[in-house]
Amino acid sequence: MSLFGRVKPLQSILATAEKKALHRTLGGFQLMLFGIGCIIGTGIFVLTAAGTQKAGPGLMLAFLIAGAVCIVAALCYAEVAAMIPVAGSAYTYSYASVGEFLAWTVGWALILEYAVAASAVSVGWSGYFSGTILNEFLGIQLPAWLSAGPLALGGAPGGFINLPAMLIALAVTWLLMIGTSESAKVNAVLVAIKVTALTAFVVLTLTSPEFDAARFNPFLPAGVFGGFGTGLGAVGAAATIFFAYVGFDAVSTAAEETKDPQKNVPFGLIGSLLFCTVFYILVAAGAIGTIGGQPIMGPDGIPFPAGSEELARQCAMPAYSCALVCSDEALAHVLRQIGFSGIGNMLGVAAFLALPSVILVLIFAQTRIFFVMSRDGLLPERLSTVHPKWKTPHIVTLMTGLIVAVGAAFFPVGLLADYANAGTLYAFFMVAVTVMVLRKTDPDRPRPFRMKGVWIIAPLTLAGCLFLYVNLPWQAILVLPAWALVGLVIYFAYSRSRSHLGQGIVEVVDDVAGEEKAVPIDTAG
Ligand code: ALA
Repeated sequence: MSLFGRVKPLQSILATAEKKALHRTLGGFQLMLFGIGCIIGTGIFVLTAAGTQKAGPGLMLAFLIAGAVCIVAALCYAEVAAMIPVAGSAYTYSYASVGEFLAWTVGWALILEYAVAASAVSVGWSGYFSGTILNEFLGIQLPAWLSAGPLALGGAPGGFINLPAMLIALAVTWLLMIGTSESAKVNAVLVAIKVTALTAFVVLTLTSPEFDAARFNPFLPAGVFGGFGTGLGAVGAAATIFFAYVGFDAVSTAAEETKDPQKNVPFGLIGSLLFCTVFYILVAAGAIGTIGGQPIMGPDGIPFPAGSEELARQCAMPAYSCALVCSDEALAHVLRQIGFSGIGNMLGVAAFLALPSVILVLIFAQTRIFFVMSRDGLLPERLSTVHPKWKTPHIVTLMTGLIVAVGAAFFPVGLLADYANAGTLYAFFMVAVTVMVLRKTDPDRPRPFRMKGVWIIAPLTLAGCLFLYVNLPWQAILVLPAWALVGLVIYFAYSRSRSHLGQGIVEVVDDVAGEEKAVPIDTAG
């Protein structure tokens, strides 16, 4: 069979969904809450600083650009997710449309989206934990070597290991191993905490006497395009701050449990994204309008790259000790600067409480992708072993957690977020391809959500993803092909010959606790 010939029959994938037969209980508003719970995290609470260093006040434009790309991608997700409502997300959709080989590349890229993003959020959490909980409340100053990764990898001067980030990743992994899942109630409480904190931030900053419109001038100190590979300018910031929207695709995984999906799935996806886009722009306006948000410029008049050694050295100087672009807990820092130390600390507590749930969702999503890939025979089957008592795929969860913990321990948040974005953009790109391929190859299959204007929106998604990808810093641009190369070696050396589909077998159950049933198919390759 040719390289692109192994397409998993949609019928057998859908048999899974039928077997699981989940009740359709979720409404549009609940979906939206679920989306906001996954979306709001390190992106806005922490990366606002890196985004400002790249674009200055143009960060607001960056939020708009990244939000627009996510909204068209979300429509594509809504159509395939409602049509193929099973575990595995973009990986499964690709398997059913463009075949095993490309599906493998998507599954492989999703490791960047979920595992690396979980590391990034862990590092973001660590900033608030060290700054607010340890420093402000307990008066403990963690030594530099324990609170950041080494400078050689883009961490802070004097850093060696980010101990809090590593520990939170391991703690969340443990919770997932013993079977903790976040209930809708806990999610609703955490969303309320995050939204309250951000609302307080917006109101206090926009009404503060410190707010001065002059701080937005120049609006685009690094231009709209900062130059290929630099990651600078408004579009460079958009490519980084795209991270702040990652996670909305988790909504698509709940399509099967949604009442009236034609209406509610797009409402949940688009609603949560629009809500966050507006909030993010207001937060950026409040932060920059009060304490200023001009980048720290190098001698050539170009901003130092965010996360660079040079910037870290500048930030260590007293002149920049209060700069927004230097803070590890950007939003709490702004409130403290404008005289609301108590509320700044409360915001720090909100981040401390709510970010672990984002880590949990991301690690969970990663384990399910590994799980499905292992059930398909593309990864060792031992990985999908389910623990007899906990009923969780404990081996794959532990493996994922260790990868996330290592990333969190040694790498800085901006670099991790950019790497995660590269993988995510590839996955979004492939979902847009999937929508178009399925419209051609399987036009009559019922689509609980049928996107209008697919031939405009899907190509726009492709263009948007490509556009953000080429505006990432060069390290992140290169990470995707390098990562893909490793993936290809593994695919051809291991997975291709062991693929169940390749051997003519398709599993029809992907439910972790469900029983497995293998059915032979007649498309063996
Ligand atoms: N969007 C999520 C965050 O910003 C991943 O933390």
